[in-house]
Amino acid sequence: MSIRLKLLFSYTGTLLITILIFVATTFFITVAVTGDMKSIKQFYKIHYALNPLSPEVESLFMELKYITKNDNPDRLLDRALLADYDNKLRIAQATLIIRKGPSIYYASPPWKTLQPETHLPEYDAGNIQIRGTFNIADRFFSYAKYDFVFGDQSPGSVFVLRERSPFAELTRKLLPLLISILFVLLLLANVLLYAFITRSIIVPLQKLKQSADRIREGNLDFRIEPAAGGEIGQLSTAFEEMRKQLNHSLELQQQYEENRKELLSNISHDLKTPISSIKGYIEGIRDGVANTPEKMNKYVNTIFGKTVAMDRLIDELFLYSKLDLKKVPFHFEKLDLNRFLTDVLEEQRFDLEAQGFQLYYAPWQGEPVEVLIDPEKVRRAISNIIDNSVKFMDKADKRIVVRVEPGEGDVTVRLTDNGSGIPAEAAAHIFDRFYRAESSRNSRTGGSGLGLAIARQVIEGHGGTIGADSVYGQGTTIYFTLKRTILSGNGEAYEKHTDH
Ligand SMILES: Nc1ncnc2c1ncn2[C@@H]1O[C@H](COP(=O)(O)OP(=O)(O)OP(=O)(O)O)[C@@H](O)[C@H]1O
Ligand SMILES: [Mg+2]
Repeated sequence: MSIRLKLLFSYTGTLLITILIFVATTFFITVAVTGDMKSIKQFYKIHYALNPLSPEVESLFMELKYITKNDNPDRLLDRALLADYDNKLRIAQATLIIRKGPSIYYASPPWKTLQPETHLPEYDAGNIQIRGTFNIADRFFSYAKYDFVFGDQSPGSVFVLRERSPFAELTRKLLPLLISILFVLLLLANVLLYAFITRSIIVPLQKLKQSADRIREGNLDFRIEPAAGGEIGQLSTAFEEMRKQLNHSLELQQQYEENRKELLSNISHDLKTPISSIKGYIEGIRDGVANTPEKMNKYVNTIFGKTVAMDRLIDELFLYSKLDLKKVPFHFEKLDLNRFLTDVLEEQRFDLEAQGFQLYYAPWQGEPVEVLIDPEKVRRAISNIIDNSVKFMDKADKRIVVRVEPGEGDVTVRLTDNGSGIPAEAAAHIFDRFYRAESSRNSRTGGSGLGLAIARQVIEGHGGTIGADSVYGQGTTIYFTLKRTILSGNGEAYEKHTDH
């Protein structure tokens, strides 16, 4: 059953139960008050008719009635007696009127001005209606009346009156209307409540369902607006978060898929090219094209060169993929960075100077900078960076400058060359695997595009970052950061934390 239907049932149920309880209560009260089941229809009329007076007033009325019936009705012409009864009645907030013939024989002074004779009920010898109510202007009275005959045969009436609140009369008159209005209000409140619940729960839930359907169909490019506040709003927000997350992972998956395809095509291409040329040279040898020892020597050397390059490529690929899969263990050692860099650069210096390079390295002069690194891997990263500086050098005055800039919690190493520089559009990609700026895709520079990708894996494996600043045509700076360590009291190294 839908929530809408359930709500409809529960509201109608509540409404019916309320009405039932109301009707039952009214019924029981009526029965209790009137003591008569049949007179329920006339409940309020009878209630008013039966109980117009208070018990004290009622007993005084009975006494007066007794005088007319069993004693001498002419005693009610005794004004002293009447004044005495009137006083007693007034204490109980009632009053006495005696009518003789058509005129008023006795009434309390304030009553005379009201001209009661015109409003009092008619003489009725049968005493059929002895209780009732009447109005004088906007005042409302209930009465008990007894009609009798005086000694001189003139008709006489004794009235005991009590003024009642006009509101009581109004209520009596309007009771059916009031009850109807209350029922209508109850109904209206239920309808409004139902509409409110529908708007704040069912409509947002339907929207969420539509969104879920769209997601199921694979359409994730839309936004789920939080339609309502409260729990439903939170549910919409959670849905929106889920959609975003799904979208993100889908994009990521697509990107991985793209990368995988690209990787596969790059590997095939980079292996295919040297293999083709090796094949060509071997065919040349087989077909006797290398018919002189010099030619043969050249062919064999070329084949050897290609094989070495392929071997290197496969090694790099292997290293890269192991780093990528986080399968190469890092052997961290706490080292003084100055000393480590001096060692690494001294190793490189000989080769570099042989190729006409000048290598500048000014060790950091301040307090020693200690780092926790895997020296072999960082050495590999630095050598990859320097290899590039050599490979992409296009000036006669060949320079490489190495700087160390210690920061609060880390230290930055910058390696700057004055080589060809990197085109701006390529700079963002040089750390991607197999990426080579177009200009460097020639046989002179060669390479597989894995050097900097490996350097990035190494630096990121140390929790550092790597980046490049380059001006095309002027030179390149590759920088990377390493976390610094400080010595704790017991001599063990731990990472120095920064606040930023
Ligand atoms: N110092 C530099 N000067 C100019 N271009 C550079 C420099 N360093 C890197 N590059 C550019 O970034 C690209 C990527 O460098 P990376 O070291 O990853 O690959 P590679 O040198 O081409 O190949 P590999 O290092 O695998 O032999 C290079 O092809 C080159 O275009
Ligand atoms: Mg390289």
